[in-house]
Amino acid sequence: MSDEEFPLLSELKKGPWPSFVKEIEKTAEKKPEMKDLLKQLERSYEDKITYWKHGGIVSVKGYGGGVIGRYSFLAKECPGVAEFHTMRVNQPAGWFYTSDALRTICDIWEKYGSGLTNMHGSTGDIILLGTTTQNLQPCFNELAKNGWDLGGSGSALRTPSACVGPARCEFALIDTLELCYDLTITYQDELHRPMWPYKFKFKIAGCPNDCVAAKARSDFAIVGTWKDEIKINQEEVKKYAEAGVDIKTQVVDNCPTKCIEYDEEKKELKIDNSNCVRCMHCINVLPKALKPGDERGAVILMGGKAPILEGPVMGWVVVPFIKAEKPFDEIKELAEAVWDFWDENGKFRERLAELIERVGMMRFLEAIGVEPDPRMIKEPRANPFYFWREEDLKERTNPWEIWRRAESE
Ligand code: HEM
Ligand code: HEM
Ligand code: SF4
Ligand code: SF4
Repeated sequence: MSDEEFPLLSELKKGPWPSFVKEIEKTAEKKPEMKDLLKQLERSYEDKITYWKHGGIVSVKGYGGGVIGRYSFLAKECPGVAEFHTMRVNQPAGWFYTSDALRTICDIWEKYGSGLTNMHGSTGDIILLGTTTQNLQPCFNELAKNGWDLGGSGSALRTPSACVGPARCEFALIDTLELCYDLTITYQDELHRPMWPYKFKFKIAGCPNDCVAAKARSDFAIVGTWKDEIKINQEEVKKYAEAGVDIKTQVVDNCPTKCIEYDEEKKELKIDNSNCVRCMHCINVLPKALKPGDERGAVILMGGKAPILEGPVMGWVVVPFIKAEKPFDEIKELAEAVWDFWDENGKFRERLAELIERVGMMRFLEAIGVEPDPRMIKEPRANPFYFWREEDLKERTNPWEIWRRAESE
């Protein structure tokens, strides 16, 4: 492909990092219709607008949630991407694959789709980018034959997702992988059938660092935590100090509740655990000297979601501490109580956060059988995302005018 043909896209090939434009070009050598993807993208960068339609759900037999349909406003100019549906494949917990499994997926996708993948979407699913309506069913059949399932879409449970947890991370306080797998298998019906007012997401983080951003992105965030005291190894504290770590500035001054003290002379740390909010900051900075306690479980936050409909919401602590061990009955009972209430009371397309806002936290807690508790902290700030500045919006024309014009060209 010549850079003169796509001058704006060619900018995205410069620099030492990988370039998705180069990857699409490589794909277009095998599948010429992918040149239309570059054509549409170049046009989008020129006009500063997307030309993808939000296409609703395309159904496949054996998967009630269906597949998210994607169509182009530039179907005439770019027929190769007129239909460009996204298949979302349920990822293995921890994203571990054999090379054989990866080859199988890529072969299936080269046969039925664009060949372009996004490993992994923000949830962690394997995102297979772009196929036609006609190819959806045979593609799903072949994925299923090889042991793969789709992830949820529409008003169903989404693919539960988890951080890599104990498989690779020393901070893991709960077995995120086991819990993620268990919830996925237990709730196959909820994943496969759109049975609720809207989508529902479980995300599991092994510790309060929350690498999966569970508290901002899921209706039901399960975050590993501990109840007892942080373990201090004063010898290791001294070693950090002697190695030049400025413990006062880097650790003590950054503790959100100011519950940690440093004795400069003795080079020793002291923690008032009753005021510690288990944020992990001190442990992250001094991992050899500080370790979480041994009495481990999870905190449950509810109502996190992205901006669609009523705006973004951070999860609200609803259960400060819950047991998180196999068979995870306490967590499942709680989730099912939430679904019962949401299903009875939620309006069409109302996420859990919006329902709680509408009926009030007291009524919600009563319905799910949870006692009020001072540790039920509401979102520390309302908006975890920052999408635009006021002045960016001022000169915008109605996008539908641009899309209608493009479509009739
Ligand atoms: C090629 C372009 C696009 C791709 C690959 C894509 C991909 C996806 C995927 C994989 C999902 C599933 C996420 C989920 O179920 O939570 C999704 C959901 C969604 N997308 Fe897109 N998207 C594209 C363009 C668009 C456009 C242009 C819009 C809006 C104008 C849009 C709006 C949405 C909305 C509202 C959802 C949530 C739907 C629901 O679960 O009810 N997307 N998209
Ligand atoms: C080709 C690129 C992308 C693909 C295929 C993709 C796909 C997806 C998918 C499958 C989900 C579903 C998440 C879920 O079920 O929780 C999702 C969610 C989300 N994506 Fe993307 N994504 C892409 C790029 C981006 C980018 C560039 C951003 C931000 C600038 C973004 C922001 C988000 C957010 C905030 C959510 C969470 C929505 C929610 O929880 O309601 N994505 N995306
Ligand atoms: S959330 Fe905690 S346990 Fe999970 S990967 Fe991040 S630091 Fe490790
Ligand atoms: S975990 Fe957070 S709140 Fe607790 S002592 Fe460390 S920095 Fe302070």
